[in-house]
Amino acid sequence: MIIAVTNQKGGVGKTTTTVNVAAALALSGCRVLLVDIDPQAHSTKSCVKEPDSIPHSLYDVLMRREENIQNVIVKSTVPGLEVAISRIAMAKLEPALLGEIDGHFRLKDVLAPIRRKYEFILIDTPPTLGLITVNALVASTHLLIPIQSSYLCLEGTDDLLETIEKIRRVANPNLEILGVLITLHDTRTNIAKDVVKRILKVFGEKVFQTYISKSVKLEESPAYKESIFTYAANSIGALQYKKVAEEILERAKK
Ligand SMILES: Nc1ncnc2c1ncn2[C@@H]1O[C@H](COP(=O)(O)OP(=O)(O)O)[C@@H](O)[C@H]1O
Ligand SMILES: [Mg+2]
Repeated sequence: MIIAVTNQKGGVGKTTTTVNVAAALALSGCRVLLVDIDPQAHSTKSCVKEPDSIPHSLYDVLMRREENIQNVIVKSTVPGLEVAISRIAMAKLEPALLGEIDGHFRLKDVLAPIRRKYEFILIDTPPTLGLITVNALVASTHLLIPIQSSYLCLEGTDDLLETIEKIRRVANPNLEILGVLITLHDTRTNIAKDVVKRILKVFGEKVFQTYISKSVKLEESPAYKESIFTYAANSIGALQYKKVAEEILERAKK
C-alpha cells in the first residue's frame, strides 16, 4: 500500500501524521518506508538523526543524478522505519521537470523496484497541488487527507478533489481515498464540533473514527527527532495515532 498524505493547505498536520502513522505501523511490526518529497524536509528532520551525512537526497534520484534510491534511504529514530530523505534542493524539482514528458511519473518509476520490500510506503507532500504533489498522487494507491478542525478547513477541498479526479482519469484510475483524518482538534470549542459535522457531511465514512487532539507533546516531539511513541509514550497523541494506525490496518484488509 502506498499512501500519499496530502492536503494543499499548510499546517494541517500532514508531516506530524506521516511521521507518527509511519512510526505506529513500524512499531506494530510492519516494514515501513517514509518518502519525504516536501522541499521543506520536515519529516526528514523530525525523525532522522543526521540526514546531511549522506551525499544525495531523493531529489537526485528523481532527477536521475543518483541511480539508486537505496542510496538515499536511511534509518530513522524509529525501529523498523526507513526514510527516503528530502532536502531543500527538492525545490528545484518542479521547474526542472516541467516539460519533461515523464515529469508526472518520476516518483512512481523510482519506487517501482523497491515497493515490494515494504508493507506500507507513506509519502509526505508539500502544501501545494503542483508537480511534486502530482508525482505523489500518481505513485500512490491510497490517499490520507488530514483536515484541521477549524474555521475555513474545507476551503480548497474542491480543488483537491478535482485534482484527484484528474489523476484518476489520466494516470492512476485505482487511486482511492483511504481516509480523512481530523487533526488539531480542540474538543472544548463549539466551532470545532460544528466543523466536524461539516467534514462528516462531505466525507462520510471516509473520516477516521479517531480524531487527533491539539497537544503540546505532538508539537514538541519533532524538535527531539522522535516520534510521539518514544517522546511521550503515554500521551493522548501517542494513543490517538496508534488508534489511527489500527484503523488503517483494518481498512487495508478490505
Ligand atoms: N495535534 C497537534 N497538536 C499540536 N500541534 C500540532 C499537532 N499536529 C501538528 N502540530 C504542529 O502544527 C504545526 C503544523 O503541523 P505539520 O504536521 O507540520 O503540518 P503540515 O505538514 O500540514 O504543514 C507544526 O508545528 C506541528 O508541530
Ligand atoms: Mg509538512
